[in-house]
Amino acid sequence: MTDRKGLILAGGTGSRLWPITQGISKQLMPVYDKPMIYYPLSVLMLAGIRDIGIITTPADQAQFRHLLGDGSQWGLRLTWLVQPSPDGLAQAYLVAEDYLAGAPSAMVLGDNIFFGHGLPEMLACADARTAGGTVFGYRVADPERYGVVGMDADGTVTQIVEKPAVPPSSYAVTGLYFLDGTAPARARSIAPSTRGELEITTLLETYLDDGSLTVERMGRGYAWLDTGTHGSLLDAGNFVRTLQSRQGMQTGCPEEIAYLQGWIDEDALGALAHRYAKTDYGTYLSGLQGTRGT
Ligand code: G1P
Repeated sequence: MTDRKGLILAGGTGSRLWPITQGISKQLMPVYDKPMIYYPLSVLMLAGIRDIGIITTPADQAQFRHLLGDGSQWGLRLTWLVQPSPDGLAQAYLVAEDYLAGAPSAMVLGDNIFFGHGLPEMLACADARTAGGTVFGYRVADPERYGVVGMDADGTVTQIVEKPAVPPSSYAVTGLYFLDGTAPARARSIAPSTRGELEITTLLETYLDDGSLTVERMGRGYAWLDTGTHGSLLDAGNFVRTLQSRQGMQTGCPEEIAYLQGWIDEDALGALAHRYAKTDYGTYLSGLQGTRGT
């Protein structure tokens, strides 16, 4: 069991999705049959992380709590944290400093959706690196929209740059960051960018300067989906629907992961299935009963 704590950054105004996110947080929007935050939460659970801090805006926190509670229904311990204003992704480490209390962390952005065979193994590799930082590179057609890593022939990171006009590679840095316990102190030491934000890329550069930044490349068998525009949000929902209806399996299902990890027992799974009895989701959970270890 890892001592790494999870963080989900679910703040922000969602202004790129207005008007749909004017009355509700972006990370609570549906991606087909589940709230968006279920998908990044599932990634942390697949990494074996049960102690998770969730960072929201002050206004949105009540709705997130209504949805997720204290996490005990899934064998998790959720801690609720507030980012008073969206001043950059690296600010999450300052907000979470007391909560982390020196522990290493895995932070995932609340709107990032990952899918791929071998993901748990890749996460385990990152978790095993107790010093330094690990980021995940994913080849995209439009790297200039993201943080981008430059790498040498061995795959060693040589540079990391935020939204470059001329990208050093096609590998975007996804919104999943495994950092050691020094992340909050580093976040404290960096200066805000010209747009006034504490950029995650500037924080990651401090690891690069120390020679302690690793990039894991997610190959073509992975999907890293964008939910940043109305069209890409719909595409992500269609992707999940296509996959789930073809396979008859859920993706991003916290109940299933908790059950398979042995964090909840048969009775607890049965109670969760009962709660959703009117839906296909509930039918799926019922069907899982008795399957652990088979
Ligand atoms: C942020 C980060 C960027 C990263 C991206 C992943 O960008 O600044 O480095 O590639 O998340 O989703 P934003 O989505 O805030 O523009």
